[in-house]
Amino acid sequence: MQSPTSHSRELRPAPILVTGGTGLLGSLVTPLLRDTGSPVRVLSRTVHEPGDGVEYVTGDLLRNTGINAAVDGAEIVVHLAGAPNARGDVEATRNLVAAATAAGTKHLVCISVIGADRVPLAYLRNKLAVEQTVAESGLAFTTLRVAQVDELVLKMVQGMAKLPVIPVPNGLRFQPVDAAEVAERLAELALAEPAGRVPDFAGPTVHSLNELVRGYLQATGKRRSIMPVRLPGRAGRAYRAGENLALDGADVGTRAWADFLAERVTV
Ligand SMILES: NC(=O)c1ccc[n+]([C@@H]2O[C@H](COP(=O)([O-])OP(=O)(O)OC[C@H]3O[C@@H](n4cnc5c(N)ncnc54)[C@H](OP(=O)(O)O)[C@@H]3O)[C@@H](O)[C@H]2O)c1
Repeated sequence: MQSPTSHSRELRPAPILVTGGTGLLGSLVTPLLRDTGSPVRVLSRTVHEPGDGVEYVTGDLLRNTGINAAVDGAEIVVHLAGAPNARGDVEATRNLVAAATAAGTKHLVCISVIGADRVPLAYLRNKLAVEQTVAESGLAFTTLRVAQVDELVLKMVQGMAKLPVIPVPNGLRFQPVDAAEVAERLAELALAEPAGRVPDFAGPTVHSLNELVRGYLQATGKRRSIMPVRLPGRAGRAYRAGENLALDGADVGTRAWADFLAERVTV
């Protein structure tokens, strides 16, 4: 006969695993999933106490540690873990996919970047290889390609504005997207049926880098010279052709970059 404890454990809904649940996007996705009533588990390389209805498992996707415990019983896995330059992301994803397959995961959600298959840069190639690893895993999956979130674009222009003269590549454009809107989309996809590759998700407006830098300088009251430069090579051509943008058939968020900037940056 089963004890009341083991019986009640069986009745609990399956946990949703979020890799990268401590990151910028993951920390926004996790509470959304938890608020639907599902137990949420986060895999992190550092130890965290459980709290706010979230359980943490310590492990490292790249070193292949703790992954079995993380995927145990998780029918849905939202895979948001990634290195800033995406180095090692493919191997990390392979390790996750192997453990999730063995654990019988029913839905793997994967985040990628718009232009992963069109812009020849190592970061995007790695992201494309992550997508392929997921698509070829045999697991039911959903993959969402996303534009750069506002925070990342802000970090980029802040870095550029440290220079007295800012080199700004001609023709480079971005579609900054609100991180909370990306998180909502990811949570919605995680709870829906696996859908394969879904329409890209980007911000509401395409901005030239020149415009983004000038807007930042104006908002902060900094005075800098801007020097137009030409980004060389195939990657430069791809960017000038807008291959990193979602121009047709994408879903777009509503929150404008200008509103984000006004909220985050003061003189
Ligand atoms: N931010 C964007 O604009 C954007 C756009 C498109 C796609 N993406 C992709 O979305 C994902 C999340 O982005 P983000 O900006 O939220 O990233 P982030 O803030 O840098 O967070 C990265 C997360 O990955 C986890 N992680 C890294 N290496 C790991 C490893 N070896 N094992 C386990 N966990 C590991 C980290 O967890 P711990 O440190 O706790 O271990 C952290 O939670 C990334 O894959 C990124 O490439 C981001």
